[in-house]
Amino acid sequence: MKLWSSLALAGIVATRAVATEVLSPDAIEKDIEEKNLQNVLWNLNHIAENNGGNRAFGLPGYNASLDFVLERVQTRFASEFDTYVQKFTHLFESTRSISVTGPEGENVYVITLQYNTATPLPGGITAELIDTPVDDARGSACFEDQWAGIDATGKIALVRRGVCAIADKLKLAKAHGALAVILYNNVPGDSIGGATLSANNIGLLVPVGVITEEYGKGWKARLAQGEVLKATLVVDSINEPRDSWNIIAETKEGDPNNVVMLGAHLDSVQAGAGVNDDGSGTAGLLELATAFRRYKGFANKVRFAWWGAEESGLIGSLYYGSQLSEAEADRIRFYFNYDMIGSKQPIYAVYADTDAHKSGGSILFDYLQSKGKPVYYGGFGSSSDYVAFLELGIPSSGIFTGAGAPEDACYHQACDNLDNINWEAITLNTKAAGRAAAQLALSLDGIPPREKTSPNPSSRRAIERRLNRAAQLTKVIEKSHSCGGLGDHTV
Ligand SMILES: *[C@@H]1O[C@H](CO)[C@@H](O)[C@H](O)[C@H]1NC(C)=O
Ligand SMILES: [Zn+2]
Repeated sequence: MKLWSSLALAGIVATRAVATEVLSPDAIEKDIEEKNLQNVLWNLNHIAENNGGNRAFGLPGYNASLDFVLERVQTRFASEFDTYVQKFTHLFESTRSISVTGPEGENVYVITLQYNTATPLPGGITAELIDTPVDDARGSACFEDQWAGIDATGKIALVRRGVCAIADKLKLAKAHGALAVILYNNVPGDSIGGATLSANNIGLLVPVGVITEEYGKGWKARLAQGEVLKATLVVDSINEPRDSWNIIAETKEGDPNNVVMLGAHLDSVQAGAGVNDDGSGTAGLLELATAFRRYKGFANKVRFAWWGAEESGLIGSLYYGSQLSEAEADRIRFYFNYDMIGSKQPIYAVYADTDAHKSGGSILFDYLQSKGKPVYYGGFGSSSDYVAFLELGIPSSGIFTGAGAPEDACYHQACDNLDNINWEAITLNTKAAGRAAAQLALSLDGIPPREKTSPNPSSRRAIERRLNRAAQLTKVIEKSHSCGGLGDHTV
């Protein structure tokens, strides 16, 4: 706990706001200011710049982000908020270096994937390349039958990206004796999107390097001519368990048995500062906490969560959900998720696929509509921190302004910096979030209780079934463009 106590030792004195005015949605809306959101995002961007370019799980930029939020909610807002730092542990991976050397000894442009497997060092793996057939309908090398007749023993398999999870391709490659996979992209150009192989596949996969489509097709053509090609892949990657933390801060005032909860993730991907993803939600929540502390008259508590390790697979929020007792889950009456609310060319999507979700979501919807925005309802996907709350049957909603071009062309990239924010959108969305939270803090009329009808509400399979059903019924809002096939947790 060294980290947190050092803040107290620094002698920062909690300033006491005098909460005399009575809480109202109008008052909160008025208090939200663009310049304060700018200030927070400037700080988060600065933290990334000083810590290797990111604020990712397991790395120093995350610690600094945590300290930044705690200095406000835990120290400055100590008279109005109770703050709790929740620790969890997750497998961390970082590729320190990766290289591919081609048949002519040339250095080939290559990127790594999250949770990649290390090769022997320092030499890596040198072996003959063996081609695998392309199947753009079912995905290449995705199924057992597509490997029929391919003896990859002792070789490096050349595989086309796309359609199925990359981890599936790497598992089959391993089963067929391959030492490694060189995956070539399924779209042209050298802007190759990243992806995660997931921590739970550690130990089950062969090492992989992702190269351009052009390069891969060139090798494929030469192999088809019967040429023997050798390549070398070197992956220097470490993986080990590391601690991380969620921050949970709630108003002292309000009924502890009726809690309105708002969440945003505090971590970024390793590739960049994450100013929109999810600095935008982080800043929005901090600005809201700053506004709420000025008021009294809360019927219900307002609880803010800044989640850790979202980009590694929703780890912090799933841990939080798993630690709640049934009674504690009952007390969370509504959950609002704010992950990417300032995309440069925003869409205005409000999550809701049931009337229970709309009981809170409609406040967001109506406000954005009244401001002339083309707001629409979309179903939940499975790629942000709302999953834990849906799994518990807690009515949920939130705002999402889009990931990937054209909405956010810097999604999961180094350019997700201070230039990657639409200031009007983040300000308006924070005001919407503030109105909704204030309204529910005053009254939960019309908000149904938690739905406990699922046979085993905490089973992952139950939630997947529910999500699949939702996906079929409605346009699902995802953080990644599934059509592009370069999504966060997929292909
Ligand atoms: C983050 O802070 C914790 C607690 O002080 C410390 O144990 C850990 O080493 C820090 N991690 C990094 C990457 O700086
Ligand atoms: Zn992300």
